[in-house]
Amino acid sequence: MAMAAAITPSSSSSSRLRQALPVKNPPLSRNFHLPQSFRLRSRLPSITTTIRAVAVEQDSRAQLGPNEYVDVFACPVCYEPLIRKGPSGFNLAAIYRSGFKCTICNKTYSSKDNYLDLTVTAGMKTYNEAMPIGTELFRSPLISFLYERGWRQNFSRSGFPGPDEEFRMAQEYFKPAEGGLLVDVSCGSGLFSRKFAKSGTYSKVVALDFSENMLRQCYDFIKADDTISEENLALVRADVSRLPFASGAVDAVHAGAALHCWPAPSNAISEICRVLRSGGVFVGTTFLRYTSSMPAIARPLRQQFMSRSNYYIEEEIEDLCMSCGLTNYTKNVQRSFIMFSAQKP
Ligand SMILES: C[S@@+](CC[C@H](N)C(=O)[O-])C[C@H]1O[C@@H](n2cnc3c(N)ncnc32)[C@H](O)[C@@H]1O
Repeated sequence: MAMAAAITPSSSSSSRLRQALPVKNPPLSRNFHLPQSFRLRSRLPSITTTIRAVAVEQDSRAQLGPNEYVDVFACPVCYEPLIRKGPSGFNLAAIYRSGFKCTICNKTYSSKDNYLDLTVTAGMKTYNEAMPIGTELFRSPLISFLYERGWRQNFSRSGFPGPDEEFRMAQEYFKPAEGGLLVDVSCGSGLFSRKFAKSGTYSKVVALDFSENMLRQCYDFIKADDTISEENLALVRADVSRLPFASGAVDAVHAGAALHCWPAPSNAISEICRVLRSGGVFVGTTFLRYTSSMPAIARPLRQQFMSRSNYYIEEEIEDLCMSCGLTNYTKNVQRSFIMFSAQKP
């Protein structure tokens, strides 16, 4: 415990400061990987561990070369912040021209097309992993192309109020996160990422999705819109169950119409809780299996048809958020549409 206290930034402001600047002399994060000998020694008096922690920190400083700095992105394998080499700046062009390295895993990450690939499988040559249908469906070039050209508009039939209103509602929930780092998890073609970036409310917006083709669409939409400043925007490929951020590094997570597509929502929400800083806000939307206003007599039938799907009832979503460590759960339901919000304690 004493070791953890010695190396863990204690406040949200310190973690925010860490993201805001290219840090030449980084503080050690909670997940900083320690040699086995260090972990064993954690039972010894705190003075020993403090000295050792300082030595590890100095090691990590010594690793930084010219044009290298600790980045906001972390390794999806060990969650240690990546060392970035290349032009500085949180924008598409600078990130595209930068290389990223995890000094713990000795793994490198770079941009493919116009997004930074931070999946665990990035760079693998022979291994190919198939994901469940909710993930694979959206990797299709056709579905990705059609998504903002008719597919998404259909959600209004289930009660989704539409992108402008959903964005307005989300912004209300995100007030405690203003000025911080917002990650639009499962952004698809970037419908909301673009709105968050345009709003100027956040210092950084990460549009993150597992689908390569959704991210390509996202890039094209960004390029076609002169009103979007790319100065605070990044496109990242990642799995929601392995988010490439250090613990407590993120102020806001948005996940529009995504929960029902995730392979394991409990893993995803636990991961979202891990990356949020204390007081950070999560806002998600999804389709409900049925609402509390559905007559009790009709529920078993609906349950029968949808029990194997990832469509949940209101109480399950609350249970999921609370069980994964979030608090202050609130919701807004309109027919099968639910927008829910919860906070990291
Ligand atoms: C219905 S779209 C939602 C797009 C957008 N957020 C919206 O509100 O319209 C669901 C998205 O979840 C993404 N997704 C599915 N599985 C994922 C995973 N394991 N990790 C990250 N994203 C995933 C899909 O690629 C797809 O873009």
